Amino acid sequence: MKLSAAMGRIAPSSTAAMSDRALARRAGGADIISLSVGEPDFATPAHVIEAAKAALDAGDTKYTAVAGTLALREAAALHFARDLGIAVPPEQVIVSAGGKQAIFHALVATLDPGDEVLIPCPWWVSYPEIVRFAGGTVVPLETTPASGYRITPAQLAAAITPNTRWLLLNSPGNPTGSVYPAAELQTLGAVLAAHPQVMVLSDDIYAPLRYTPGHHATIAAECPELDGRVLTVSGLSKSHAMTGFRIGLAAGPAWLVKAMGKLQSHSMGSPSTNSQAAAVAALEGPQDFLIAWCAIMRQRRDTVIAAINAIPGLSAPSPDGAFYAMVDAGPHMARFGDDQALCLHLLDNGVAVVPASAFGGKHGFRISFAASEAALEEALRRIAKALS
Ligand SMILES: Cc1ncc(COP(=O)(O)O)c(C=O)c1O
Repeated sequence: MKLSAAMGRIAPSSTAAMSDRALARRAGGADIISLSVGEPDFATPAHVIEAAKAALDAGDTKYTAVAGTLALREAAALHFARDLGIAVPPEQVIVSAGGKQAIFHALVATLDPGDEVLIPCPWWVSYPEIVRFAGGTVVPLETTPASGYRITPAQLAAAITPNTRWLLLNSPGNPTGSVYPAAELQTLGAVLAAHPQVMVLSDDIYAPLRYTPGHHATIAAECPELDGRVLTVSGLSKSHAMTGFRIGLAAGPAWLVKAMGKLQSHSMGSPSTNSQAAAVAALEGPQDFLIAWCAIMRQRRDTVIAAINAIPGLSAPSPDGAFYAMVDAGPHMARFGDDQALCLHLLDNGVAVVPASAFGGKHGFRISFAASEAALEEALRRIAKALS
């Protein structure tokens, strides 16, 4: 038996691989602090859990509309307007099993061999794999700490060809925590305006977890000239600590949302019914806990960044959003050879982090600070000792 050619183009998720390794070592009795996973350590809010239970008790256990219940698409439209500044009718919203599935369906529905997809690098692990699976060609747009891990309009203009089909933008970004200010999105929009063949997939799933003041700027809201060309992806996995509910939200042009629904009708069917009820409660219920969660994350960020920058040979800029820091370990590379070897050495010393190469980066690792202050402080002590 053989696997498809599409399967041959993709690699397994390296973040999942590192978490699995950490779990296996733990199961074998090792004391491992895992800073490799991409999920908040907070408990899902009680009112969200109650809504999921109430839906089950009420007998909401059957299929729903493929694109999600009208109640959830209306709540999502409220979220896109309130939190992301995007006015969209519920018919142009689709609910998927996590943000990941929305991205998967959007790219599989639109890419043909030879189509190019621009992805700022370092990138979230799944972007290039999904593009390759869909038959597209990945075009990395390199970013550095000096550019705030953000692309420039000149870089974008130079990368666009007649075959460019998508630009993937992720703000706040995983793994860098970079956030695009409104003015920069406008300058990127001005470049894109001259290339109508290019769509933008704007992944704003971390928007509520930001350390910058004011509202969150999205390219759909900031660039009206791109009307009909932006798919905005959001969700509750990160902001509302609901990774296991598997709910993702996407808003975009009617033709694309319809195509994603067509694909979804044959891949997943409808999203989990009681998860959808929980998501309505999450979107329509109180949001003020987010202020407290951001304050906790900001404190952890400051602890981690100060400790990293105090370790000889390590450096990391302070991220503006999400709960990750990209650590440069360049001066240690001569000793370890590559960042995989460095991360295995750290694992041997009781800390699991993900090599930068998993994100298209090099010479470093990503640390997730979605862990208690005590765990973070101990992990950083171990890292310092392991590299001394
Ligand atoms: C940048 C980014 N987008 C999308 C997702 C997908 O999240 P989920 O499918 O759990 O909703 C993740 C999860 O790690 C992410 O980091």
